[in-house]
Amino acid sequence: MRPWTHPAGEPVIVARAKDCVVTDVHGKDYLDLTAGYFVNNAGHCHPRIVEAATQQLHQVLQVSGKHGTVAAVRLAERLINLLPKSIDQAFFSTGGSEANEFALKMARQATGKKDVAYLENAYHGLTLGSLEVTASEKYRESAGKPLGTETYTLPNAYCYRCPKGQTPDSCATECLDGVEAKLAARPDTAAILAEPIQSVGGLAPPEKWWKRVDLIRKQRGLLLIIDEVQTGLGRTGKMFALEHYGLEPEIVTGGKGLSGGVGSLAMTCAGKDVVTKFFGGTTPTSGGNAVSAAAGLAMIETLVDEKMIDNARAMGEHFTKAVWALRDPWVGDVRFTGLLGGVELVANRDTKEVLGKKAIAAVKDGLHADGMLITVSGLYGNVLRLQPPLSITAAQIDTFVASLRKVLAAVRQSV
Ligand SMILES: Cc1ncc(COP(=O)(O)O)c(C=O)c1O
Repeated sequence: MRPWTHPAGEPVIVARAKDCVVTDVHGKDYLDLTAGYFVNNAGHCHPRIVEAATQQLHQVLQVSGKHGTVAAVRLAERLINLLPKSIDQAFFSTGGSEANEFALKMARQATGKKDVAYLENAYHGLTLGSLEVTASEKYRESAGKPLGTETYTLPNAYCYRCPKGQTPDSCATECLDGVEAKLAARPDTAAILAEPIQSVGGLAPPEKWWKRVDLIRKQRGLLLIIDEVQTGLGRTGKMFALEHYGLEPEIVTGGKGLSGGVGSLAMTCAGKDVVTKFFGGTTPTSGGNAVSAAAGLAMIETLVDEKMIDNARAMGEHFTKAVWALRDPWVGDVRFTGLLGGVELVANRDTKEVLGKKAIAAVKDGLHADGMLITVSGLYGNVLRLQPPLSITAAQIDTFVASLRKVLAAVRQSV
């Protein structure tokens, strides 16, 4: 079953993968600028992760979620150590959507309130509960039923297309002017749920934007749920993206690379005040699998020991300079925070008119044919998402950018 439509050439059936390169069954190599869908932050099949998972295979694989394993406890301790002091405990489940559902339950149980605000353009998963806090109409319609009325959106910070015509420097966070009134009109609001930086399109708000949101929510006594499923584990040049803004949320969720790429593992972490009021509704059979936990911990230690988070920062800067240096008329915006990257393609740089679907598909196909694995997303479907393993080198980035130059020029000739 192929639950979405693929451009030509997909899907790639991978026979083996190493660091930033995956090789398909025909022997063709691809530079993986998706890190296996933003999971393999330390690179594919890192020997230390493989070793940790292999060791664990001989010790214990799985126990009831009512008990625990040494591997899961170690991972929990490490995470609590890395997260802000507002977070004391971790609960493991199997995927980011599930982790967010638990976060919603926790926030509702802790506050006795039912409404949750989330950001425009947000993606927090596709299960029925997490769809309630995912903005895309297309995805919401996939539920096949009306979703509840307990969730509602607040403005996000899409600074390249600022509705007030400001730049990040001139920004006075005018987009947030109506937020207090909106929250006041929903007194049954338990929490605000947001990614620190929206992964879909790489939208990093200016610091003052987050400061104001954080102040408003504190004044109203709302919980803050931070979704680090995609931004966490070094992706943005910090272990967690909330560090860029000094946020101290009551609840943090995570997933993707948390398993080290071995199976699937997600977390819902919270502070004591929330945890003590949490009466449950959480017994995922495979949550906190020991092999995934051992691999995830090995990945965290690898990111730290091999300075991959520093590399993410440096390579994000290199990427930004290299793409701008193309001076391509279709490159409207280049936004990297660490290696959470987006290149927004436009037909006209002055008007910011979105590049047409046909051209975008041709760019993606051209890159694919050239051995570059990327995904495309964004509010208008015109953002090339560039999120390679954090071990990527400047030479590999240069190879990608040379390919991008060639493909953009070729597509311009043909459409
Ligand atoms: C920010 C964010 N939250 C939640 C999810 C859902 O995670 P999963 O696909 O593991 O359910 C994703 C997945 O892409 C995500 O990017």
